[in-house]
Amino acid sequence: MKILVTGGCGYIGSHTIVDLIDNGFDVVCVDDNSRSTPALLKGIKKITGVAVPHYAYDLCDLAKVEELFKAHPDIEGVIHFAAYKSVPESVKAPLKYYHNNLSSLINLLRVSKEYALKYFIFSSSCSVYGNAEALPVTEHTPLQEAESPYAYTKQSGERILLDLAKSDPAFNVVLLRYFNPVGAHSSAEIGEVQEKPENLVPYITQTAIGKRDQLTVFGKDYETRDGTCIRDYIHVMDIANAHTKALEYVIANKNEENAEVFNLGSGNGVTVLELIQAFEKVSEQKLNYVMGDRRPGDVVAIYANNEKATSKLGWEIKYSIEEMMRTAWEWECKMHQKSSN
Ligand code: WQD
Repeated sequence: MKILVTGGCGYIGSHTIVDLIDNGFDVVCVDDNSRSTPALLKGIKKITGVAVPHYAYDLCDLAKVEELFKAHPDIEGVIHFAAYKSVPESVKAPLKYYHNNLSSLINLLRVSKEYALKYFIFSSSCSVYGNAEALPVTEHTPLQEAESPYAYTKQSGERILLDLAKSDPAFNVVLLRYFNPVGAHSSAEIGEVQEKPENLVPYITQTAIGKRDQLTVFGKDYETRDGTCIRDYIHVMDIANAHTKALEYVIANKNEENAEVFNLGSGNGVTVLELIQAFEKVSEQKLNYVMGDRRPGDVVAIYANNEKATSKLGWEIKYSIEEMMRTAWEWECKMHQKSSN
């Protein structure tokens, strides 16, 4: 079965393409490379032997989306990753985020409808929960006011898809709410590329490799066991496999509703300091970090109740926090090796 992966040159998209190919799917990738490069497609070829067809189209251009489906009328499912995802950037440039993240989704859905596409998997985020009242969050936890335009584009994307599913019983939608994807494929052929890192784990590995002088821990006085924020870190290959499982779930008609939501988290809350300790253990080196001020917009703690995904999708979490840190470190070392050659 042929699946269109949008944003397939990105971090989660590239890892999901590997898992889809490993599970027998044909993949076509569309990615305008505005936030990525085609380099990860070379890594996918090294891992799977498959040269995935790549269209560097802007999904905000409806004519291009039409052209893509015309070239591949046998696309039966879409996994939609392509979106801008920087929380601070979205606060500075909300219109850029509303235009890019929502116009691309609407164009995709208009053309999917023309081709009577049946399966649409949407990359959503735990950021739709905001500062959840009770933890761990389940799929029924009420959504708070979005903390950023980025989070609001994810809430709006979910709303658009739920309304579309209500209007068309033949259209099957799965919304996947990621917690904090980290780590890299065990081959170190693909991984997260963040030139100017915003997220914790790339900042940790870039500090350890010497690309950054020092990590600042944002806040030490939160109401948590060690004063630092709690997050639910989940290996990117576990996240990738959940997409394959979600596709197989709707293809096999196992979904009771034609629109379903799943939390994709490990179910474990880990503090920033605990993550740093796990990294120091696997990399066998001390990390240079200081305790700093809180970062505006951070929620104190969030982690998932993932029972729905594990029971209904048959999803299994395979990677521990140590393996998340080990693979993230091996990827950073591989990138460093390549850049010094
Ligand atoms: C994690 C923790 C920081 C950097 C991200 C994405 C969001 C969503 C979920 C996709 C926080 C702390 C960080 C640093 C630090 N993903 N930190 N020093 O904010 O949970 O959200 O994952 O939808 O879009 O942004 O992830 O890695 O930025 O922060 O202390 O240099 O690490 O304060 O507590 P976050 P993060």
